[in-house]
Amino acid sequence: MAALNIVIMAAGKGTRMKSALPKVLHRLAGRSLLAHVLASTEGLQAGARRIVVTGHGAEQVEAAVGAPGIAFVRQMPQLGTGHAVQQAVPALEDGGVTLILNGDVPLIQTVTAQRLVEACGGGKLALLTIELADPSGYGRIVRQGEAVQAIVEHKDATPEQRRITEGYTGMMAAPTAALKRWLAQLKNDNAQKEYYLTDIVAMAVAEGVQVLGIAAPDETEVLGVNSPVQLADLERRYQRQQAVALMDGFGVRLADPARFDLRGTLDCGSDVEIDVNCVFEGKVRLGEGVKIGANCVIRNADIAAGAVIKEFTHIDGESQGASVGEGSLIGPYARLRPGAQLGREVHIGNFVEVKNSTLADGAKANHLAYLGDASVGERVNYGAGSITANYDGANKHRTEIGADVHVGSNCVLIAPVTIGAGATIGGGSTITKPVEAGSLAVARGRQVAISGWVRPVKAKK
Ligand code: UD1
Ligand code: MG
Repeated sequence: MAALNIVIMAAGKGTRMKSALPKVLHRLAGRSLLAHVLASTEGLQAGARRIVVTGHGAEQVEAAVGAPGIAFVRQMPQLGTGHAVQQAVPALEDGGVTLILNGDVPLIQTVTAQRLVEACGGGKLALLTIELADPSGYGRIVRQGEAVQAIVEHKDATPEQRRITEGYTGMMAAPTAALKRWLAQLKNDNAQKEYYLTDIVAMAVAEGVQVLGIAAPDETEVLGVNSPVQLADLERRYQRQQAVALMDGFGVRLADPARFDLRGTLDCGSDVEIDVNCVFEGKVRLGEGVKIGANCVIRNADIAAGAVIKEFTHIDGESQGASVGEGSLIGPYARLRPGAQLGREVHIGNFVEVKNSTLADGAKANHLAYLGDASVGERVNYGAGSITANYDGANKHRTEIGADVHVGSNCVLIAPVTIGAGATIGGGSTITKPVEAGSLAVARGRQVAISGWVRPVKAKK
């Protein structure tokens, strides 16, 4: 297979974003614009060279997306798209094809890029074009009959050329050797005093090289991001696509696809229901029949079949992950943190926080509680307001709670501590010593009755 170079232009400032962050690092569905472009070029061709042209915020951009196999070239100052690709010339592998993409057009699909590369075939110049209702700002594809003659930039176009509705998307594939030759001839005698990459089209025509205008399959794929409004618009389009894919592909029932956000991957079994305003991030798996209530945020978690996550629940497994067992009931207003591993039919109620803790099948913590660094046995009932005091100010310690333990309300279990199976902890106890299996531990001030006590009264003036 012929060599493939992929040049991604990402040096522009993005003035209209009105942001200190370089434009290509702004996020769409949780990932930077540039990361989207890099991801869609990953599967193009083994051994393809990927070269990112950086300029504005170069260090930040390079640090954010740097990975083995990605080369960076700097363009300082930025004198136009032709000048950008000129900077990449020393990094291009000779022979074969060079594909040119835009770092701010995030939703380009691998198959579309592949089509461009194939159309070029090492001998032709292939341009990705789009039919636009409002083409202003775009370079226009000037044709004579079917044959592409040139691209004319909006600012340089005649009134007649401005009526052309076929626009250049900014993406092309060119034979590498010819591209180098053409780039060397670019001039900046135009309205913007820039070196236009698009001027190579007329050069190709003059040399008798065939130029193909290939229509993009849909507009969303080729939309660029120049402003916060455009970014938000593209985000909604992308979220809509993901929502439709989940509904069509897995039968997921989204209460409203317009109020659904996926910033990562969501893998669903059949009969999953998701209410409005839920956000899924990282890698999330929902088993068969899982129900997610409104306003939940779920990140890096695995929710097993039949579990119900009620409204306003926050689950974040971070890098460790979090898991909810089959048939469990979580929330409303529950919080599961990294390392929360819940067995089957576990109940976690409102304002309960679980971190780095294992809860065995049937365990329950229904109200206002904290379980951190704990192992909780089967069928344990953990009372309202009870907490594990897992941190001594320097180190974290574990709490072990055996099966069938009943922890009353408002208890403090000071770790490290072990509660034997079947034990009962009286409400309001502060437990600092091991509790034997089957015993009752009470550790609180005894109630006293003072008879004849007189309540104070206000002194009379
Ligand atoms: C470019 C095309 C235009 C096309 C449009 C599609 C040219 C001359 N024009 O115009 O035909 O319709 O895209 O969106 O190519 N960049 C650099 N260095 C530079 C200038 C730009 O890296 O010196 C990068 C930008 O960061 C951006 C991309 O190139 O990712 C396109 O640049 P932009 O300034 O948006 O080009 P347009 O004027 O929109
Ligand atoms: Mg642009």
